[in-house]
Amino acid sequence: MKRLLIVTVALTMLASCGNNDGTKGGEKKADTVAKAETKDLSENPDYQKGLAIEAASDCATCHKIDEKVQGPAYQDIAKKYAGLPDTIVTHLAKKIISGGTGVWGEILMIPHPQLSQADAEAAVKYILLLKK
Ligand code: HEC
Repeated sequence: MKRLLIVTVALTMLASCGNNDGTKGGEKKADTVAKAETKDLSENPDYQKGLAIEAASDCATCHKIDEKVQGPAYQDIAKKYAGLPDTIVTHLAKKIISGGTGVWGEILMIPHPQLSQADAEAAVKYILLLKK
């Protein structure tokens, strides 16, 4: 139910960014869903796309933005990989698709073969934007 709400809100948000003429409502929802700290983030297309992909997938069962759950907090991931060349996006996207363990601990990230490389990269870009 909660996930359905998130998906709905993300879709509403995407829909509302179609009209570029001051979509204050859309921005506000983005802030609520993702606790985006700045207005800039909610207007960033990478952020919007990645958020929609995350919302439609199972990421939130193991990841939170600012807190470790089973998986590391997105802000910690963003911090760890900050300032690296773009190839890190490709690498992390592949890891989301094939799953893996050993970088943050013993817990396994399940594979996500249903995601395309492009979608997984969008999700990674979204995560990397969350750096504090
Ligand atoms: C079953 C729980 C689980 C789910 C579902 C999950 N993750 Fe993870 N994720 C993890 C764990 C655990 C790690 C740490 C893996 C490691 O230590 O190598 C991780 C690590 C990551 C990393 C960092 C990888 C690295 O090598 O540093 C990214 C990026 C990531 N997850 C994104 C996602 C995205 C995007 C989704 C949804 C499409 C997702 N995760 C779904 C558990 C999960």
